[in-house]
Amino acid sequence: MTVVVEVTDLCKRFGKVQAVDQVNFAIGENEFFSLLGPSGCGKTTTLRCVAGLESADSGTIRIGERTVFDPKTRTDLPPNYRAIGMVFQSYAVWPHMKVFDNIAYPLKVRRQSRTSIEQRVARVLEILGMAGLGHRMPSQLSGGQQQRVALGRALALEPTVLLLDEPLSNLDAKLREQMRAELKLIQKETGLPILYVTHDQTEALAMSDRIAVMCEGSIHQLASPSTIYRRPATQFVLDFIGTVNYLPCHLADTRSDTIRLILADGQQCSLPRPPFIPDTTEALLAIRPEDIAIDPTGEGLSANVELGSFIGHANEYRIRLGATSLRVSGDKQLAIAEGTQVGLKFRDGLLLEPDALQRPMARAS
Ligand SMILES: Nc1ncnc2c1ncn2[C@@H]1O[C@H](COP(=O)(O)OP(=O)(O)OP(=O)(O)O)[C@@H](O)[C@H]1O
Ligand SMILES: [Mg+2]
Repeated sequence: MTVVVEVTDLCKRFGKVQAVDQVNFAIGENEFFSLLGPSGCGKTTTLRCVAGLESADSGTIRIGERTVFDPKTRTDLPPNYRAIGMVFQSYAVWPHMKVFDNIAYPLKVRRQSRTSIEQRVARVLEILGMAGLGHRMPSQLSGGQQQRVALGRALALEPTVLLLDEPLSNLDAKLREQMRAELKLIQKETGLPILYVTHDQTEALAMSDRIAVMCEGSIHQLASPSTIYRRPATQFVLDFIGTVNYLPCHLADTRSDTIRLILADGQQCSLPRPPFIPDTTEALLAIRPEDIAIDPTGEGLSANVELGSFIGHANEYRIRLGATSLRVSGDKQLAIAEGTQVGLKFRDGLLLEPDALQRPMARAS
């Protein structure tokens, strides 16, 4: 991987808050890289350090061939020397300027020639799928188009990397989904690496090549979306990404590829061998709604459907199993009535140490 952005041992403190705590990552050519985490975990601060809008306390930042931040050599280049393009949530387009002038602005500031500005803006509009709309005022555009103009301004100077901080959060749900795809297409077209900040896990899972999940200033896991989802490195990641049910269980037999568990109500079940098996007789089973199979004929763990809701692409259930009400995702073709006695089987799950939920940072695998 050719590294385009490299962040090493980055730290930034505001008074008593360690906003960024020993953060390390490297972004490759063409890579869509996301920082994902709850509000206040340090995503924006990390991005602002990369952009040069904030000076870190320690660590180094390299963009392209250049070291842009290194306190040891007193290097701290201002944003306009870092070859970056930025779009922030609040970074609206200038309402009094035509689309053309909004995108041309950074080029005019650099005193580029009229011809080269016109060529570049035309190219950017083409990339954005907005060719021919240069003469419009922002008020004559949809929300999604306005956001694309902001993106166009970031693309105008042919940056080495695009830094995007929750750029879609002002859009409504439908438009946000559409813009996700468009952003990916724009990235394909330009070949630019993207450092993307979001607290929206669906967005991060859908768009990223790799995700760094942050919590209280540090990265808990840096991996592909599927690894983050299927093999979370810490309890925090497991809980933050997707939905998960927890069931206390007794490990009856863990010797083969299919292990046997006894649940709190005495029922026995099997589970494909998870990557981590705690060194205890008691454990906590963590299982996603879609990894629980419902058998309407009642084969498997005996359970009862408490609630069912049709959500279009699936049926979602609350199913009572002993003392636990499980969230289960079922086939959209098959609606099971509330009150039905069903059987459950576990297709996949993770085992945690029995007190994992009392230790919020414990490792899950
Ligand atoms: N300029 C500042 N002065 C003081 N504290 C700050 C400043 N900027 C950020 N912080 C604190 O640093 C921590 C990280 O903030 P940051 O904005 O990076 O979080 P975030 O992950 O982007 O959150 P959100 O999802 O809400 O945007 C928070 O506790 C925040 O209150
Ligand atoms: Mg933020």
